[in-house]
Amino acid sequence: MRIVFVASEGVPYSKTGGLADVVGALPKALAGLGFDVEVLLPRYRMTKPGRAIPSMQSVTLPLASGYRYASIQEGGEAHGVHAYLVDLPSYFNREGLYQEKGQDYPDNAERFAAFSLAALEFVKRAATPPDILHCHDWQTALVPIYLRNLYAEDGFLSRTSVVFTVHNLGYQGLFPPHILPHISLHAGLFTIDALEYYGKVNFLKGGIVFSDFVTTVSRKYAEEIQTPEYGCGLEGVLKSHADRLQGILNGVDYDAWDPATDKLLPANYTPENLEGKKACKKALLEKMGVQALVLSRPVIGIVSRFAAQKGFDLIADIAERLAELDLTIVALGTGEPVYEELFRTMAAKYPGKFLVKVAYDNTLAHQIEAGADMFLMPSRYEPCGLNQIYSMKYGTVPIVRATGGLDDTIEPYDGKTGTGFKFSEYSAPALFKVIHQALEAFRQPKAWQRLMLTGMRKDFSWTSSAKQYAKIYQTLSKEKSKSKPATEAAGS
Ligand code: ADP
Ligand code: GLC
Repeated sequence: MRIVFVASEGVPYSKTGGLADVVGALPKALAGLGFDVEVLLPRYRMTKPGRAIPSMQSVTLPLASGYRYASIQEGGEAHGVHAYLVDLPSYFNREGLYQEKGQDYPDNAERFAAFSLAALEFVKRAATPPDILHCHDWQTALVPIYLRNLYAEDGFLSRTSVVFTVHNLGYQGLFPPHILPHISLHAGLFTIDALEYYGKVNFLKGGIVFSDFVTTVSRKYAEEIQTPEYGCGLEGVLKSHADRLQGILNGVDYDAWDPATDKLLPANYTPENLEGKKACKKALLEKMGVQALVLSRPVIGIVSRFAAQKGFDLIADIAERLAELDLTIVALGTGEPVYEELFRTMAAKYPGKFLVKVAYDNTLAHQIEAGADMFLMPSRYEPCGLNQIYSMKYGTVPIVRATGGLDDTIEPYDGKTGTGFKFSEYSAPALFKVIHQALEAFRQPKAWQRLMLTGMRKDFSWTSSAKQYAKIYQTLSKEKSKSKPATEAAGS
Protein backbone atom coordinates (compact mmCIF):
# COMPACT_ATOMS: atom_id res chain seq x y z
CA MET A 1 0.00 0.00 0.00
CA ARG A 2 1.36 3.43 -0.99
CA ILE A 3 1.05 6.17 1.65
CA VAL A 4 2.16 9.74 0.97
CA PHE A 5 2.58 12.11 3.91
CA VAL A 6 2.08 15.75 2.96
CA ALA A 7 3.15 18.13 5.71
CA SER A 8 4.53 21.61 6.25
CA GLU A 9 7.39 20.48 8.50
CA GLY A 10 9.25 17.30 9.34
CA VAL A 11 12.44 16.25 11.08
CA PRO A 12 15.27 16.33 9.95
CA TYR A 13 14.37 18.86 7.23
CA SER A 14 12.41 21.52 9.09
CA LYS A 15 10.87 22.03 12.51
CA THR A 16 9.02 24.57 14.62
CA GLY A 17 7.25 22.13 16.96
CA GLY A 18 5.92 18.66 17.62
CA LEU A 19 4.35 18.26 14.17
CA ALA A 20 7.87 17.91 12.75
CA ASP A 21 8.73 15.19 15.27
CA VAL A 22 5.60 13.23 14.30
CA VAL A 23 6.21 13.60 10.55
CA GLY A 24 9.80 12.47 11.14
CA ALA A 25 8.88 9.40 13.14
CA LEU A 26 5.47 7.98 12.17
CA PRO A 27 6.42 7.23 8.52
CA LYS A 28 9.43 5.28 9.80
CA ALA A 29 7.18 3.19 12.05
CA LEU A 30 4.73 2.62 9.17
CA ALA A 31 7.55 1.55 6.85
CA GLY A 32 8.50 -0.91 9.58
CA LEU A 33 4.98 -2.36 9.29
CA GLY A 34 5.53 -2.94 5.57
CA PHE A 35 3.91 0.15 3.99
CA ASP A 36 5.53 2.10 1.12
CA VAL A 37 5.83 5.55 2.63
CA GLU A 38 6.88 8.84 1.07
CA VAL A 39 7.02 12.22 2.76
CA LEU A 40 6.57 15.48 0.88
CA LEU A 41 7.69 18.75 2.49
CA PRO A 42 8.42 22.30 1.33
CA ARG A 43 12.07 23.13 0.88
CA TYR A 44 12.68 26.05 3.25
CA ARG A 45 15.86 28.02 3.82
CA MET A 46 16.44 25.92 6.97
CA THR A 47 16.03 22.66 5.02
CA LYS A 48 19.28 20.81 4.56
CA PRO A 49 18.77 17.88 2.17
CA GLY A 50 20.82 14.79 3.04
CA ARG A 51 22.90 15.26 -0.11
CA ALA A 52 22.87 17.74 -2.95
CA ILE A 53 20.59 16.14 -5.49
CA PRO A 54 19.45 17.90 -8.66
CA SER A 55 15.75 18.39 -9.24
CA MET A 56 13.97 15.22 -10.23
CA GLN A 57 11.12 16.78 -12.08
CA SER A 58 9.12 19.92 -12.37
CA VAL A 59 5.37 20.19 -11.88
CA THR A 60 2.96 22.80 -13.17
CA LEU A 61 0.62 24.32 -10.60
CA PRO A 62 -2.79 25.36 -11.92
CA LEU A 63 -3.09 28.56 -9.91
CA ALA A 64 -5.72 30.99 -11.11
CA SER A 65 -3.27 33.89 -10.83
CA GLY A 66 -1.20 32.17 -13.52
CA TYR A 67 0.65 28.89 -13.88
CA ARG A 68 3.59 28.43 -11.57
CA TYR A 69 6.24 25.76 -11.65
CA ALA A 70 7.75 23.93 -8.73
CA SER A 71 10.63 21.55 -8.86
CA ILE A 72 10.52 18.41 -6.79
CA GLN A 73 13.81 17.32 -5.26
CA GLU A 74 14.76 14.09 -3.63
CA GLY A 75 15.46 14.72 0.04
CA GLY A 76 16.97 11.34 0.75
CA GLU A 77 15.95 7.94 2.02
CA ALA A 78 16.14 6.73 5.61
CA HIS A 79 14.61 3.65 7.28
CA GLY A 80 12.74 2.84 4.08
CA VAL A 81 11.01 6.25 3.86
CA HIS A 82 11.65 8.48 0.81
CA ALA A 83 11.49 12.22 1.38
CA TYR A 84 10.77 14.72 -1.40
CA LEU A 85 11.07 18.48 -1.21
CA VAL A 86 8.98 21.00 -3.10
CA ASP A 87 11.29 23.76 -4.22
CA LEU A 88 9.51 27.05 -4.83
CA PRO A 89 12.07 29.61 -3.67
CA SER A 90 9.85 32.69 -3.95
CA TYR A 91 7.49 31.12 -1.41
CA PHE A 92 9.72 29.00 0.81
CA ASN A 93 13.27 30.33 0.74
CA ARG A 94 12.57 32.58 3.71
CA GLU A 95 13.82 33.02 7.26
CA GLY A 96 10.72 31.48 8.90
CA LEU A 97 8.31 28.70 8.02
CA TYR A 98 5.03 30.50 8.62
CA GLN A 99 6.02 33.90 10.01
CA GLU A 100 8.79 36.31 10.83
CA LYS A 101 9.09 38.49 13.95
CA GLY A 102 5.72 37.29 15.21
CA GLN A 103 3.91 38.27 11.97
CA ASP A 104 2.39 35.64 9.68
CA TYR A 105 3.54 35.93 6.08
CA PRO A 106 0.75 37.79 4.25
CA ASP A 107 0.83 35.30 1.36
CA ASN A 108 0.46 32.15 3.50
CA ALA A 109 -2.73 31.13 1.68
CA GLU A 110 -1.00 31.23 -1.72
CA ARG A 111 2.16 29.58 -0.33
CA PHE A 112 0.36 26.53 1.03
CA ALA A 113 -2.05 26.43 -1.90
CA ALA A 114 0.98 26.12 -4.18
CA PHE A 115 2.48 23.44 -1.96
CA SER A 116 -0.78 21.46 -1.85
CA LEU A 117 -1.17 21.63 -5.64
CA ALA A 118 2.46 20.54 -6.00
CA ALA A 119 1.67 17.54 -3.80
CA LEU A 120 -1.26 16.47 -5.98
CA GLU A 121 0.70 17.00 -9.22
CA PHE A 122 3.65 15.11 -7.75
CA VAL A 123 1.63 12.03 -6.80
CA LYS A 124 0.06 12.01 -10.26
CA ARG A 125 3.49 11.48 -11.82
CA ALA A 126 3.91 8.02 -10.32
CA ALA A 127 2.90 4.82 -12.12
CA THR A 128 0.33 3.99 -9.44
CA PRO A 129 -1.80 6.41 -7.42
CA PRO A 130 -1.33 6.60 -3.68
CA ASP A 131 -3.86 4.65 -1.61
CA ILE A 132 -3.64 7.26 1.12
CA LEU A 133 -2.66 10.90 1.27
CA HIS A 134 -2.00 11.67 4.93
CA CYS A 135 -2.21 15.43 5.52
CA HIS A 136 -1.54 17.47 8.64
CA ASP A 137 -2.97 20.74 9.98
CA TRP A 138 -4.27 23.77 8.07
CA GLN A 139 -1.20 24.11 5.86
CA THR A 140 -2.06 20.92 3.96
CA ALA A 141 -5.83 20.97 4.46
CA LEU A 142 -6.10 22.23 0.87
CA VAL A 143 -5.01 18.80 -0.40
CA PRO A 144 -8.37 17.13 0.40
CA ILE A 145 -10.21 20.33 -0.57
CA TYR A 146 -8.58 20.32 -4.03
CA LEU A 147 -8.90 16.56 -4.40
CA ARG A 148 -12.68 16.63 -3.90
CA ASN A 149 -13.22 19.78 -5.97
CA LEU A 150 -10.60 20.90 -8.53
CA TYR A 151 -9.50 17.26 -9.04
CA ALA A 152 -12.94 15.67 -8.54
CA GLU A 153 -12.98 14.34 -12.12
CA ASP A 154 -9.43 13.04 -12.04
CA GLY A 155 -9.67 9.31 -12.68
CA PHE A 156 -6.11 8.59 -11.57
CA LEU A 157 -6.81 9.83 -8.05
CA SER A 158 -10.32 8.42 -7.74
CA ARG A 159 -9.18 5.56 -5.51
CA THR A 160 -7.08 7.78 -3.24
CA SER A 161 -8.35 8.45 0.30
CA VAL A 162 -7.28 11.27 2.57
CA VAL A 163 -6.51 10.96 6.26
CA PHE A 164 -6.28 14.34 7.91
CA THR A 165 -4.58 14.76 11.28
CA VAL A 166 -5.39 17.78 13.42
CA HIS A 167 -2.35 18.52 15.58
CA ASN A 168 -3.68 21.79 16.91
CA LEU A 169 -7.14 23.25 16.48
CA GLY A 170 -5.86 26.65 17.59
CA TYR A 171 -4.34 27.29 14.16
CA GLN A 172 -6.98 27.13 11.44
CA GLY A 173 -5.65 29.05 8.44
CA LEU A 174 -8.21 31.87 8.25
CA PHE A 175 -8.28 34.09 5.17
CA PRO A 176 -10.67 36.62 3.59
CA PRO A 177 -13.26 35.18 1.17
CA HIS A 178 -11.73 36.91 -1.86
CA ILE A 179 -8.78 34.51 -1.58
CA LEU A 180 -10.80 31.67 -3.13
CA PRO A 181 -10.43 32.56 -6.84
CA HIS A 182 -6.73 33.31 -6.33
CA ILE A 183 -6.12 29.78 -5.12
CA SER A 184 -8.23 28.14 -7.84
CA LEU A 185 -11.27 27.38 -5.70
CA HIS A 186 -14.77 28.34 -6.77
CA ALA A 187 -16.85 30.77 -4.74
CA GLY A 188 -19.49 28.06 -4.25
CA LEU A 189 -17.27 26.59 -1.55
CA PHE A 190 -17.93 29.60 0.64
CA THR A 191 -20.84 27.98 2.49
CA ILE A 192 -21.39 26.87 6.05
CA ASP A 193 -21.11 23.21 4.99
CA ALA A 194 -17.73 23.77 3.37
CA LEU A 195 -15.13 26.49 4.01
CA GLU A 196 -17.10 29.39 5.48
CA TYR A 197 -16.42 30.25 9.12
CA TYR A 198 -17.70 33.51 10.60
CA GLY A 199 -17.23 35.39 7.34
CA LYS A 200 -13.80 33.96 6.62
CA VAL A 201 -12.38 31.06 4.63
CA ASN A 202 -11.22 28.36 7.05
CA PHE A 203 -8.72 25.88 5.58
CA LEU A 204 -8.76 23.57 8.61
CA LYS A 205 -12.54 23.28 8.46
CA GLY A 206 -12.29 22.34 4.77
CA GLY A 207 -9.71 19.70 5.66
CA ILE A 208 -12.12 18.15 8.16
CA VAL A 209 -15.09 18.32 5.79
CA PHE A 210 -13.39 16.92 2.66
CA SER A 211 -11.17 14.20 4.18
CA ASP A 212 -12.21 10.58 4.42
CA PHE A 213 -11.03 10.23 8.00
CA VAL A 214 -9.89 12.71 10.64
CA THR A 215 -7.53 11.93 13.47
CA THR A 216 -6.11 13.95 16.28
CA VAL A 217 -3.18 13.26 18.53
CA SER A 218 -4.67 11.96 21.79
CA ARG A 219 -7.86 10.28 22.90
CA LYS A 220 -8.71 13.02 25.38
CA TYR A 221 -8.18 15.84 22.86
CA ALA A 222 -10.50 14.03 20.41
CA GLU A 223 -13.21 14.30 23.07
CA GLU A 224 -12.34 17.84 24.14
CA ILE A 225 -12.52 19.32 20.64
CA GLN A 226 -16.15 18.31 20.38
CA THR A 227 -17.00 20.75 23.20
CA PRO A 228 -17.35 24.55 23.02
CA GLU A 229 -14.51 25.02 25.54
CA TYR A 230 -11.88 23.38 23.31
CA GLY A 231 -13.51 23.26 19.89
CA CYS A 232 -12.36 26.75 18.79
CA GLY A 233 -15.69 27.19 17.00
CA LEU A 234 -15.35 23.91 15.08
CA GLU A 235 -16.96 21.69 17.73
CA GLY A 236 -20.16 21.39 15.67
CA VAL A 237 -18.33 20.30 12.52
CA LEU A 238 -16.23 17.84 14.51
CA LYS A 239 -19.26 16.41 16.27
CA SER A 240 -21.03 15.88 13.00
CA HIS A 241 -17.98 13.91 11.79
CA ALA A 242 -17.57 12.00 15.07
CA ASP A 243 -18.08 8.61 13.38
CA ARG A 244 -14.88 9.17 11.41
CA LEU A 245 -12.83 10.97 14.05
CA GLN A 246 -10.31 9.18 16.23
CA GLY A 247 -7.71 10.24 18.78
CA ILE A 248 -4.41 8.38 18.37
CA LEU A 249 -1.68 9.21 20.84
CA ASN A 250 1.63 10.38 19.38
CA GLY A 251 4.61 8.16 19.98
CA VAL A 252 8.25 8.99 20.56
CA ASP A 253 11.21 8.36 18.30
CA TYR A 254 13.59 6.79 20.82
CA ASP A 255 16.37 6.86 18.20
CA ALA A 256 16.42 10.62 18.81
CA TRP A 257 15.15 10.86 22.41
CA ASP A 258 16.83 8.35 24.70
CA PRO A 259 19.33 9.38 27.40
CA ALA A 260 21.18 6.08 26.94
CA THR A 261 22.25 7.01 23.40
CA ASP A 262 21.55 10.76 23.01
CA LYS A 263 24.67 12.26 21.38
CA LEU A 264 23.70 15.79 22.35
CA LEU A 265 24.24 15.11 26.07
CA PRO A 266 27.50 15.56 27.96
CA ALA A 267 26.91 12.14 29.57
CA ASN A 268 24.56 9.23 28.92
CA TYR A 269 22.57 7.28 31.49
CA THR A 270 20.04 4.50 31.92
CA PRO A 271 17.53 3.45 34.60
CA GLU A 272 20.19 1.04 35.86
CA ASN A 273 22.86 3.71 36.17
CA LEU A 274 21.76 7.28 36.77
CA GLU A 275 25.23 8.77 37.36
CA GLY A 276 25.22 10.48 33.95
CA LYS A 277 22.09 12.44 34.87
CA LYS A 278 23.97 14.23 37.66
CA ALA A 279 26.70 15.15 35.16
CA CYS A 280 24.00 16.48 32.81
CA LYS A 281 22.53 18.65 35.58
CA LYS A 282 25.93 20.10 36.45
CA ALA A 283 26.80 20.76 32.81
CA LEU A 284 23.41 22.38 32.17
CA LEU A 285 23.73 24.79 35.10
CA GLU A 286 27.28 25.68 34.09
CA LYS A 287 26.23 26.22 30.49
CA MET A 288 23.45 28.56 31.67
CA GLY A 289 26.04 30.60 33.59
CA VAL A 290 25.47 29.51 37.21
CA GLN A 291 28.51 30.42 39.30
CA ALA A 292 27.89 28.82 42.70
CA LEU A 293 26.54 25.35 41.95
CA VAL A 294 24.12 23.79 44.45
CA LEU A 295 23.38 20.44 42.89
CA SER A 296 20.81 19.44 45.51
CA ARG A 297 18.56 22.36 44.52
CA PRO A 298 15.70 21.22 42.24
CA VAL A 299 15.78 22.38 38.63
CA ILE A 300 12.52 22.83 36.74
CA GLY A 301 12.88 22.78 32.95
CA ILE A 302 10.70 24.47 30.31
CA VAL A 303 11.17 24.00 26.55
CA SER A 304 8.36 25.45 24.53
CA ARG A 305 6.93 27.61 21.86
CA PHE A 306 6.09 30.73 23.84
CA ALA A 307 2.37 30.76 23.00
CA ALA A 308 -0.77 31.42 25.06
CA GLN A 309 -1.72 27.74 24.58
CA LYS A 310 1.15 26.70 26.84
CA GLY A 311 -0.12 28.37 30.03
CA PHE A 312 2.51 31.08 30.40
CA ASP A 313 -0.02 33.52 31.82
CA LEU A 314 -0.24 31.23 34.87
CA ILE A 315 3.54 31.21 35.20
CA ALA A 316 3.52 35.03 34.93
CA ASP A 317 1.01 35.18 37.80
CA ILE A 318 3.18 33.11 40.14
CA ALA A 319 6.65 34.14 38.90
CA GLU A 320 7.41 36.32 41.92
CA ARG A 321 6.34 33.60 44.36
CA LEU A 322 8.41 31.00 42.51
CA ALA A 323 11.44 33.27 42.82
CA GLU A 324 11.14 33.04 46.62
CA LEU A 325 11.40 29.23 46.60
CA ASP A 326 14.53 27.13 46.75
CA LEU A 327 14.57 26.12 43.07
CA THR A 328 16.02 27.02 39.69
CA ILE A 329 13.98 27.41 36.53
CA VAL A 330 15.69 26.80 33.18
CA ALA A 331 13.56 28.00 30.28
CA LEU A 332 14.16 27.75 26.53
CA GLY A 333 11.72 29.08 23.97
CA THR A 334 10.69 31.64 21.41
CA GLY A 335 7.39 33.05 20.32
CA GLU A 336 4.98 35.72 21.48
CA PRO A 337 6.92 38.84 22.50
CA VAL A 338 4.97 39.20 25.76
CA TYR A 339 6.25 35.82 27.05
CA GLU A 340 9.78 36.33 25.74
CA GLU A 341 9.73 39.57 27.74
CA LEU A 342 8.37 37.82 30.84
CA PHE A 343 11.25 35.35 30.93
CA ARG A 344 13.87 38.01 30.10
CA THR A 345 12.55 40.19 32.91
CA MET A 346 12.56 37.34 35.44
CA ALA A 347 16.11 36.37 34.42
CA ALA A 348 17.30 39.95 34.89
CA LYS A 349 15.51 40.36 38.22
CA TYR A 350 16.43 36.97 39.68
CA PRO A 351 19.70 35.86 38.15
CA GLY A 352 20.55 32.34 39.23
CA LYS A 353 16.86 31.59 39.81
CA PHE A 354 15.53 32.05 36.29
CA LEU A 355 18.00 30.87 33.65
CA VAL A 356 16.61 31.75 30.26
CA LYS A 357 17.50 31.40 26.61
CA VAL A 358 15.16 32.99 24.11
CA ALA A 359 16.01 30.98 21.00
CA TYR A 360 15.32 27.82 19.09
CA ASP A 361 18.10 25.43 20.12
CA ASN A 362 17.66 21.68 19.66
CA THR A 363 20.85 20.75 21.53
CA LEU A 364 19.86 22.77 24.58
CA ALA A 365 16.35 21.27 24.41
CA HIS A 366 17.87 17.78 24.84
CA GLN A 367 20.21 19.02 27.57
CA ILE A 368 17.34 20.54 29.56
CA GLU A 369 15.37 17.28 29.27
CA ALA A 370 18.36 15.48 30.77
CA GLY A 371 19.67 18.08 33.22
CA ALA A 372 16.42 19.17 34.89
CA ASP A 373 14.73 17.33 37.78
CA MET A 374 11.20 18.32 36.76
CA PHE A 375 9.58 19.56 33.56
CA LEU A 376 6.75 22.08 33.57
CA MET A 377 3.84 22.12 31.08
CA PRO A 378 0.84 24.00 32.53
CA SER A 379 -0.93 24.15 29.15
CA ARG A 380 -4.34 25.72 28.70
CA TYR A 381 -4.88 22.99 26.12
CA GLU A 382 -2.47 20.39 24.71
CA PRO A 383 -3.44 18.15 21.79
CA CYS A 384 -0.72 15.67 22.72
CA GLY A 385 2.50 17.28 23.90
CA LEU A 386 5.77 15.48 23.34
CA ASN A 387 8.06 17.07 25.88
CA GLN A 388 6.34 15.46 28.87
CA ILE A 389 6.83 12.06 27.20
CA TYR A 390 10.49 12.82 26.45
CA SER A 391 10.84 13.98 30.08
CA MET A 392 9.67 10.65 31.46
CA LYS A 393 12.30 8.84 29.40
CA TYR A 394 14.96 11.22 30.74
CA GLY A 395 13.93 10.71 34.38
CA THR A 396 12.71 14.29 34.55
CA VAL A 397 9.39 14.30 36.35
CA PRO A 398 6.60 16.13 34.48
CA ILE A 399 4.34 18.68 36.17
CA VAL A 400 1.37 19.13 33.85
CA ARG A 401 -2.16 20.37 33.57
CA ALA A 402 -4.65 17.53 33.12
CA THR A 403 -5.69 18.34 29.57
CA GLY A 404 -5.46 16.56 26.20
CA GLY A 405 -2.41 14.38 25.75
CA LEU A 406 -0.90 15.59 29.01
CA ASP A 407 -3.78 13.95 30.84
CA ASP A 408 -3.56 10.78 28.73
CA THR A 409 0.18 10.28 29.26
CA ILE A 410 0.86 11.25 32.88
CA GLU A 411 -0.36 9.18 35.81
CA PRO A 412 -0.64 11.22 39.01
CA TYR A 413 1.89 10.41 41.71
CA ASP A 414 0.26 9.31 44.96
CA GLY A 415 3.40 8.77 47.03
CA LYS A 416 3.88 5.26 45.63
CA THR A 417 2.76 4.88 42.05
CA GLY A 418 2.44 7.32 39.15
CA THR A 419 4.73 9.21 36.79
CA GLY A 420 4.19 12.91 37.49
CA PHE A 421 2.15 15.74 38.97
CA LYS A 422 -1.13 16.98 37.55
CA PHE A 423 -3.50 19.84 38.27
CA SER A 424 -6.92 20.41 36.73
CA GLU A 425 -8.29 23.89 37.31
CA TYR A 426 -6.65 26.43 35.02
CA SER A 427 -5.60 28.85 37.75
CA ALA A 428 -2.41 30.25 39.23
CA PRO A 429 -3.13 28.94 42.78
CA ALA A 430 -3.71 25.42 41.41
CA LEU A 431 -0.41 25.58 39.53
CA PHE A 432 1.46 26.89 42.55
CA LYS A 433 0.00 24.14 44.71
CA VAL A 434 1.09 21.34 42.39
CA ILE A 435 4.62 22.76 42.06
CA HIS A 436 4.74 22.83 45.85
CA GLN A 437 3.70 19.17 45.98
CA ALA A 438 6.44 18.24 43.53
CA LEU A 439 9.04 20.13 45.55
CA GLU A 440 7.91 18.32 48.72
CA ALA A 441 8.21 14.95 46.99
CA PHE A 442 11.68 15.88 45.73
CA ARG A 443 12.84 16.05 49.36
CA GLN A 444 12.38 12.26 49.69
CA PRO A 445 15.31 11.06 47.54
CA LYS A 446 14.46 7.35 47.57
CA ALA A 447 10.81 7.80 46.70
CA TRP A 448 11.76 10.43 44.11
CA GLN A 449 14.12 8.02 42.42
CA ARG A 450 11.35 5.42 42.25
CA LEU A 451 9.12 8.03 40.63
CA MET A 452 11.84 8.84 38.07
CA LEU A 453 12.38 5.19 37.27
CA THR A 454 8.67 4.50 36.79
CA GLY A 455 8.61 7.16 34.05
CA MET A 456 11.88 6.02 32.50
CA ARG A 457 10.58 2.48 32.09
CA LYS A 458 7.35 3.48 30.30
CA ASP A 459 7.17 2.68 26.62
CA PHE A 460 5.69 5.36 24.36
CA SER A 461 7.28 4.16 21.13
CA TRP A 462 5.29 4.48 17.92
CA THR A 463 4.56 0.77 17.48
CA SER A 464 1.03 0.64 18.85
CA SER A 465 -0.07 4.03 17.47
CA ALA A 466 1.32 3.23 14.00
CA LYS A 467 -0.83 0.08 14.02
CA GLN A 468 -3.91 2.18 14.72
CA TYR A 469 -3.14 4.38 11.69
CA ALA A 470 -2.52 1.23 9.64
CA LYS A 471 -5.96 -0.04 10.52
CA ILE A 472 -7.57 3.19 9.33
CA TYR A 473 -5.60 3.11 6.04
CA GLN A 474 -6.66 -0.49 5.43
CA THR A 475 -10.33 0.19 6.15
CA LEU A 476 -10.36 3.20 3.79
CA SER A 477 -8.59 1.30 1.07
CA LYS A 478 -11.09 -1.57 1.32
CA GLU A 479 -13.98 0.90 1.13
CA LYS A 480 -12.53 2.45 -2.04
CA SER A 481 -11.97 -0.86 -3.74
CA LYS A 482 -15.65 -1.71 -3.15
CA SER A 483 -16.72 1.57 -4.75
CA LYS A 484 -16.64 2.43 -8.48
CA PRO A 485 -13.68 1.15 -10.50
CA ALA A 486 -11.15 3.84 -11.40
CA THR A 487 -11.94 3.88 -15.14
CA GLU A 488 -15.65 4.28 -14.54
CA ALA A 489 -15.00 7.10 -12.06
CA ALA A 490 -12.75 8.81 -14.61
CA GLY A 491 -15.50 8.83 -17.19
CA SER A 492 -18.30 9.80 -14.81
P1 ADP B 1 4.10 21.94 20.15
O1 ADP B 1 4.12 21.12 18.92
O2 ADP B 1 2.75 22.44 20.51
O3 ADP B 1 5.09 23.05 20.11
P2 ADP B 1 5.12 19.53 21.50
O4 ADP B 1 5.37 19.26 22.94
O5 ADP B 1 4.32 18.54 20.77
O6 ADP B 1 4.49 20.99 21.40
O7 ADP B 1 6.48 19.58 20.70
C1 ADP B 1 7.42 20.58 20.83
C2 ADP B 1 8.69 20.14 20.15
O8 ADP B 1 9.43 21.29 19.77
C3 ADP B 1 9.59 19.32 21.05
O9 ADP B 1 10.37 18.44 20.29
C4 ADP B 1 10.46 20.42 21.68
O10 ADP B 1 11.68 19.94 22.16
C5 ADP B 1 10.64 21.35 20.51
N1 ADP B 1 10.89 22.75 20.87
C6 ADP B 1 9.97 23.68 21.25
N2 ADP B 1 10.56 24.87 21.47
C7 ADP B 1 11.88 24.69 21.22
C8 ADP B 1 13.03 25.55 21.27
N3 ADP B 1 12.92 26.83 21.62
N4 ADP B 1 14.22 25.03 20.95
C9 ADP B 1 14.33 23.72 20.59
N5 ADP B 1 13.30 22.86 20.53
C10 ADP B 1 12.08 23.34 20.84
C1 GLC C 1 0.85 20.37 18.05
C2 GLC C 1 0.37 20.33 19.47
C3 GLC C 1 1.12 19.36 20.35
C4 GLC C 1 1.37 18.05 19.63
C5 GLC C 1 2.06 18.31 18.31
C6 GLC C 1 2.33 17.03 17.52
O1 GLC C 1 1.77 21.34 17.78
O2 GLC C 1 0.35 21.62 20.06
O3 GLC C 1 0.38 19.13 21.54
O4 GLC C 1 2.16 17.20 20.42
O5 GLC C 1 1.26 19.12 17.51
O6 GLC C 1 1.17 16.30 17.25
